[in-house]
Amino acid sequence: MKGIILFKSRYGNTRQYAKWLAEDLNFELRDFSKFKKKEIANYDQIIFGSGVYMNKMDKIQKVLKMFRDKPIVIFSCAGNPGIEKEIEDIKMYNFHHDELSFHHFFYLPGGVDFSKVTGFMKFLINIFRKILEKKKNKTYEEEQILKGFTDPTHYVDRKHIKKIVEFIHQT
Ligand SMILES: Cc1cc2nc3c(=O)[nH]c(=O)nc-3n(C[C@H](O)[C@H](O)[C@H](O)COP(=O)(O)O)c2cc1C
Repeated sequence: MKGIILFKSRYGNTRQYAKWLAEDLNFELRDFSKFKKKEIANYDQIIFGSGVYMNKMDKIQKVLKMFRDKPIVIFSCAGNPGIEKEIEDIKMYNFHHDELSFHHFFYLPGGVDFSKVTGFMKFLINIFRKILEKKKNKTYEEEQILKGFTDPTHYVDRKHIKKIVEFIHQT
C-alpha cells in the first residue's frame, strides 16, 4: 500500500505528528504546497494535517476541493489537549456535514505558544490579547487563550497518533 502524509505547519507541532505518522506507517512525507492534484492517483492512502489559527485549519478549503472525489484522513492540530467542545468547534468552522462523513477526521493535541508568533500575526494577536484582558466575565476558553501568552502549553506526544495508525491499518 502506497501512502503519503501532507501537512501544513507554522510552528512545528503538526510537522512533528506528520513525521511520526510517516515513520510508523512507512508513508512518504511532504509539505502540502509541493503536492499536485495529478499525483492523487499515485497513492492508495492520503493523510492531510494542519494547525488551527483563529479557528481555521490552514489550506483546508484547497484540500477539500482537491480531494472532492477521494476520501482521505484529515487531522487538525490545535491548542487544546482534546476538549470535545473545542474539537466540535474546529469541525464546525472548517467542514460541512457531508465533508465530515466523506473524509475521516481526527484531532491531535498541539499546544499554544504565542511567543513563537512573529510579524503581522503578532501585531494582531497583541490587539486580541488587550481586548480579552479588558473583557469582564471571561469564558473558560478565553482564560485558556490568555494563559497561552504567559504559560505556553505543549501536548504533542507520539501516543496520540495511535488512533490514526490503527485506522489506516484497518482500511
Ligand atoms: C496565532 C495563533 C492562533 C491560534 N488559534 C487557535 C484557535 O483558534 N483554536 C485553537 O484551538 N488553537 C489555536 N491556536 C493553537 C495552534 O492551533 C497550535 O499551536 C497548533 O499546534 C499549531 O500547529 P503548528 O505548530 O503545526 O503550526 C493558535 C495559535 C496561534 C499561534
